Amino acid sequence: MAVRRLHPLQAGGFAFSDENLRWAKETIAKYPEGKQASAIIPLLWRAQEQEGGWLPEPALRAVADMLGMAHIRAMEIATFYTMFQLQPVGSKAHVQVCGTTPCMLCGSESLIELCKTRIAPTQHTLSEDGAFSWEEVECLGCCANAPMVQIGKDVYEDLTPDLFEKVLDGFAAGKPPKPGSQTGRTASAPKGKLTSLKESVTAGGKS
Ligand code: FES
Repeated sequence: MAVRRLHPLQAGGFAFSDENLRWAKETIAKYPEGKQASAIIPLLWRAQEQEGGWLPEPALRAVADMLGMAHIRAMEIATFYTMFQLQPVGSKAHVQVCGTTPCMLCGSESLIELCKTRIAPTQHTLSEDGAFSWEEVECLGCCANAPMVQIGKDVYEDLTPDLFEKVLDGFAAGKPPKPGSQTGRTASAPKGKLTSLKESVTAGGKS
């Protein structure tokens, strides 16, 4: 995973839109008195959505000020969680490829190679048309359906290079594919036939 630092080029300031400010105040009010700092994750996420998918430094300071926190606390959170982007991302998709062991054993390195040839040779770099960017991240909790990528709030699982190309084609065309398994299996059901738990069980015992 790349070192997570603030982008050298920063906007002059940040303010929530009227709608987002109303939402932020409602969100902060959900937390008990003295615990408002707990709202930092949803507020940073909303700021990121407002700013086109990444968090400029002024947004970190503004959110920290709203919550009565030291600026460095917001910085610590934004640099720790890979759900927060600290530099501009592709306008159509920022692809997060899981490179942790289960995904690596199932082929994530070929997905990363595809990112390098189709999007940009290095992580956190915009594609030539500005539509895509990518990065390698640690386990995203879909190991049973490895390898996988996350784009925005959605995950795309059971990928091969060909299936991953189709996912990217969908985003490029403005028609993101249905999230989840790209081979059509239901959730994390076995890829083949059942090998265990084959007998149905009723309340009184085996049926
Ligand atoms: S190792 Fe890739 S989702 Fe867990």
